[in-house]
Amino acid sequence: MANYGLQGKVAVITGSGRKKGIGFAIASKLAAEGCCIVLSDLGVPKGNEFSSEHIGITDEMNQLTEELIKSGARVIAQPADVRLESDCEALIKAAVDTFGRIDILVNNAGVGYLMEEFTEFKESSWDAVLDVNLKGAFLCSKHAARYMIAQNSGCIINIASQAAKSGFPYAAAYTASKHGLVGLTRSNAVELGPKGIRVNAICPNHITTGLGHWQNEFFSKKFGLDYQTYLQGIKDRNPLRRTGMVEDIANAVAFLCSDEASYINGEALNVSGGEEYH
Ligand SMILES: NC(=O)c1ccc[n+]([C@@H]2O[C@H](COP(=O)([O-])OP(=O)(O)OC[C@H]3O[C@@H](n4cnc5c(N)ncnc54)[C@H](O)[C@@H]3O)[C@@H](O)[C@H]2O)c1
Repeated sequence: MANYGLQGKVAVITGSGRKKGIGFAIASKLAAEGCCIVLSDLGVPKGNEFSSEHIGITDEMNQLTEELIKSGARVIAQPADVRLESDCEALIKAAVDTFGRIDILVNNAGVGYLMEEFTEFKESSWDAVLDVNLKGAFLCSKHAARYMIAQNSGCIINIASQAAKSGFPYAAAYTASKHGLVGLTRSNAVELGPKGIRVNAICPNHITTGLGHWQNEFFSKKFGLDYQTYLQGIKDRNPLRRTGMVEDIANAVAFLCSDEASYINGEALNVSGGEEYH
């Protein structure tokens, strides 16, 4: 285990209530590094866009909280719909009320399953993706930054995507939202940097989480390939001949939050095995 000097830091991770997800891997890594953790997720299905197949429900989040507590970490769970400013404000306040401060915010909540032919793309799908992936990060960052400015220190990590650097078919909203998230990262980095807050993004390529599995099924059907052939194609195209793992992203988060990364600000770091390099 690396020692990133994060003991006692307080970290909020949105969309972290699914066992196989990137968010929980980040929470587990930061907990192992000694951080106090606020797990958060939507908690309850909402309408067509947020069905139980795709979102982290409260029961699972509570189980994961117990798991981390048993490992010795200090953890609370706070459901939040990141589309709602009141929920985002309450989420950040819960961290401060419980642990006294907020040092790390990871904007990880994301919708990557609303993909449609561009000419048939529903306005409701567009709004759902932009509201979670971009507005959610804006709202959580805004409320976290208020406390971080008062502390004169803090670190915000936005989980963007390879789709923040390259275009993907059927994914107009997702691609636009992730490009936008890098724009938010850069604006925040220059505005908040003088106030002691570093803001960076991480751009993963494919990882077979619940969301990643859905995308494998979607794209393999679209391209007329069976699932395994499609997945093998992704591996074959990658210089390291594998797909990403949730731990790859969690490790990058821990590094970016540490003092080892104290001069890294406003970056959109590819964690893609060399598949994406601009
Ligand atoms: N898996 C991949 O291949 C991949 C690649 C690049 C980027 N990403 C990004 O990584 C992040 C995590 O994705 P993942 O693959 O772990 O999938 P995931 O489905 O496990 O995680 C996404 C989380 O966002 C939550 N969420 C959705 N709507 C929400 C809302 N309104 N409020 C609060 N939370 C909400 C979901 O409940 C879920 O827990 C996402 O931002 C995704 O875009 C994933």
